[in-house]
Amino acid sequence: ARVGVLISGRGSNMAALLYASRLDPACPYEIVVVGSNDPEAAGLKLAAAEGIPTFAHSHKGLKRAEFDAIITRELERAGVTHIALAGYMRLLSAEFVTHWQGRCLNIHPSLLPKHKGLHTHAAVLAAGELETGCTIHIVTPELDDGPILGQARIAVLPGDTPETLATRVQYAEHQLYPRVLADFVSAADRPAALLERVRGLAL
Ligand code: GRF
Repeated sequence: ARVGVLISGRGSNMAALLYASRLDPACPYEIVVVGSNDPEAAGLKLAAAEGIPTFAHSHKGLKRAEFDAIITRELERAGVTHIALAGYMRLLSAEFVTHWQGRCLNIHPSLLPKHKGLHTHAAVLAAGELETGCTIHIVTPELDDGPILGQARIAVLPGDTPETLATRVQYAEHQLYPRVLADFVSAADRPAALLERVRGLAL
């Protein structure tokens, strides 16, 4: 599979996906392009230094669907078959989601369906949760919704802050995302397995 990663920030999950693919000669995906809605995203420099083509377009002044069409064009130019959203802080248009339906994954730093949206770790602490974690799911039109492909759980410690939790959740994210993406794209080569995995998703 040819994967395009979309980021808006640091890009540590993008790096985890990339390094995992390079470590395993049998990895069923390769990162072929990294794109961002923020030309200043630190992860773009990292990807470029690793020899991965990058693109960045500012969304300022564009309608959501117009901007997303530019992103789709870039991804298609790179021959992308699957998208991994990794800290991509843009809501997606219905057009984009439909176009990539069943081929676009997202990572969210909570045990979905709990704590969707922003300020996740503060919400976890405010709710007095004893555990949290991260979730990889297929992207559907609803934010942080869609069939769950994998989760990793971590304990919440007394004295945790949103920052300490974020750091530990990211350790788990970096393990989980490459594994789930590899499983997902391998299953996609096998129609029966794909149907099993994305059951519940209207394709
Ligand atoms: C991750 O915690 C991810 O779950 C959330 O945004 C963060 C991105 O971090 N959606 P990074 O850019 O991958 O370092």
